[in-house]
Amino acid sequence: MTRHVLLTGAGGFVGSHMLHRILEDTDWRVTCPVTLRHHGNSDRLAPYLEGRPDWSSRVRTFLCDLSCPIPATAEIGPVDYVLNVASESHVDRSITNPAPFVRNNVELMLSLLEFARQAQPEVLLHMGTDEEYGPAYGDYKHREWDTVLPSNPYSASKAAQSALATAWWRTYQLPVMLTRTMNLISPCQDREKYVPTVIRKVLAEETVQIHASPDGVPGSRHWIDAREFAGAWLHLLEHAPVQHHPEHDRPTMYHVVGEERSNLEIAQTIADLLGKPLKYELVSFHASRPGHDLRYALDGSKLADLGWTPRRPLEETLRDIVDWYVQRPAWLGTEATGATA
Ligand SMILES: NC(=O)c1ccc[n+]([C@@H]2O[C@H](COP(=O)([O-])OP(=O)(O)OC[C@H]3O[C@@H](n4cnc5c(N)ncnc54)[C@H](O)[C@@H]3O)[C@@H](O)[C@H]2O)c1
Repeated sequence: MTRHVLLTGAGGFVGSHMLHRILEDTDWRVTCPVTLRHHGNSDRLAPYLEGRPDWSSRVRTFLCDLSCPIPATAEIGPVDYVLNVASESHVDRSITNPAPFVRNNVELMLSLLEFARQAQPEVLLHMGTDEEYGPAYGDYKHREWDTVLPSNPYSASKAAQSALATAWWRTYQLPVMLTRTMNLISPCQDREKYVPTVIRKVLAEETVQIHASPDGVPGSRHWIDAREFAGAWLHLLEHAPVQHHPEHDRPTMYHVVGEERSNLEIAQTIADLLGKPLKYELVSFHASRPGHDLRYALDGSKLADLGWTPRRPLEETLRDIVDWYVQRPAWLGTEATGATA
């Protein structure tokens, strides 16, 4: 029988790629509670829902702010999987105005968990972040279930979501599965994020600020294509065992990991792809962004052992993303600049 999925955050960057991947790779029906607040954007969904009746007939969207309980009038019906991608996701905004940001992320998690308690899906898959662990020092890569030590309100709100899901897993036997991942990139990302910002600045021949340590070591991250991430989630739904209490003392967790590069290497690759020089300055992350960590790193070997690694090298992904933004300067907020590239 065709599966039915509740997917949150589908109007956002990662959620829209998740929806696309589901439509492409499965025959599932997808119900998406969407808000155009919290950086949802219907432009991300239009390519899948307009002119594709075979896809749009499988998708139902309805307006729903998940910081309130999902109303019974939403008439979602039985669901096989709950896929929770939605969250306020911008670290700087969480630092500027933390209380509504954290409240939103905690409340939406509670709404989802309470919905799942009634709906009894086979799996509730929740999207966490590397930032829940805090910084990774030296060459260390965090393993699943390492100590959680968030550095800023965003990462604390994500750690709170994982903690709530774990408590509902244990108290109510919800079939929770957790993933943590980092620095997703792809087309359709908000212009305030790192890759679109670098593309915009390089095209305009402006100086790119690269976060670094006080002694000038550029920050480093693992980078993964959001389309690859979506593939990893489908792989997990098919292959990962759901752990239950009391046979296990914690739910299933996997890291979804891409390739490590410094922020400077990413900016230089983008400039090379655009055929422009990179003008940059290293900025001490302590001064520019309190709660900012120099390096995040995750170990992805557990998911690799389950048979999943990214298909495309990072440089190919970056080429694809740069081409996409150059052809759609409105997504950079620079109609004129992109046209010259
Ligand atoms: N982008 C990254 O690099 C990255 C890295 C690790 C983890 N994540 C996680 O991925 C998820 C998606 O991030 P993104 O980059 O797509 O962010 P985004 O800001 O583009 O999208 C967030 C989505 O969540 C929805 N949302 C937020 N609050 C909501 C509410 N109260 N009710 C209903 N919907 C709500 C928004 O409408 C939007 O669709 C988040 O959980 C984030 O923590 C992102």
